[in-house]
Amino acid sequence: MASRKNLHADRAALAHKVRYALAHPHRVPAHLRRAGRNRWLAFTHRDHVGYYRAVMASDTRRSPEAAVGSPTHEAWLQLGELQFDYLRAHGLEPGHRMLDIGCGNLRAGRRFIDYLDSGHYYGIDISPDVLVAAKRTLTAEGLQSKLPHLTLTQDLTLDFLPDAHFDVVHAHSVFSHSPLPIIDECLAHVGRVLAPGGFFDFTFDRTLGSEHHVLREDFYYRTETLTALANGHGLRARFMDDWELRGHGQSKIRVSAEQVPGAGSSVAAGHSQTSLP
Ligand SMILES: C[S@@+](CC[C@H](N)C(=O)[O-])C[C@H]1O[C@@H](n2cnc3c(N)ncnc32)[C@H](O)[C@@H]1O
Repeated sequence: MASRKNLHADRAALAHKVRYALAHPHRVPAHLRRAGRNRWLAFTHRDHVGYYRAVMASDTRRSPEAAVGSPTHEAWLQLGELQFDYLRAHGLEPGHRMLDIGCGNLRAGRRFIDYLDSGHYYGIDISPDVLVAAKRTLTAEGLQSKLPHLTLTQDLTLDFLPDAHFDVVHAHSVFSHSPLPIIDECLAHVGRVLAPGGFFDFTFDRTLGSEHHVLREDFYYRTETLTALANGHGLRARFMDDWELRGHGQSKIRVSAEQVPGAGSSVAAGHSQTSLP
């Protein structure tokens, strides 16, 4: 499938906004409404987690599926399958323990929960509203007997989780909504909870130009920024080339706790191995 990425746009630049508005005039009113709402939410919630939690509350009230980024139920199902198929193809096994950071309303979590042994799925999220929606998904799918753990979190220190426990840690479309200090916090702590041979896969909105954000909702990073951050915490980071072939708008990095050869070295996009742990 062809890539849908526009890797050079600076969506925060006025010129880009004007060009976009001229090309898509019908989208302007909705964007302005969203910008106005977000401005108010940013004013009333000064920290990012509080702000984004408020964004999720507002979006989830309208539609939990749209709140996690799927405009239709079919798209919601497809995005769940995409995440599940990718990890299955990368060696996910029923006996593995999985931590799903920013699990949302279990778009993919429902597939992981069904597949993994009972009690092996841990989903965490900053949004109580989306976790309530997650419980509804769980019930609708009849997955009660799999006893997944669904936990509200305020930060990504992962301090309530045990050492060396998870074979797979996963964050799909979470860092695309996160400023750098939140990503840094996660990378500083994820190594502790990874089991030997375990890995952490996360997606991000990639840019080859200047890093920017839109409405403090969507954050665009260069691959080197994130791999260097991981390396700085003693983690190895690999850009996953084969994810690019799946037609998703974001890119994916895999982090593992293997020793980084030569402090500070990073893996550049497109030049990495994609062999699997
Ligand atoms: C676009 S949704 C994706 C949900 C899920 N990963 C999926 O693919 O269906 C992003 C989710 O991440 C959560 N989130 C955002 N920032 C977070 C953070 N710092 N820690 C934990 N969850 C976060 C949001 O509340 C939301 O449920």
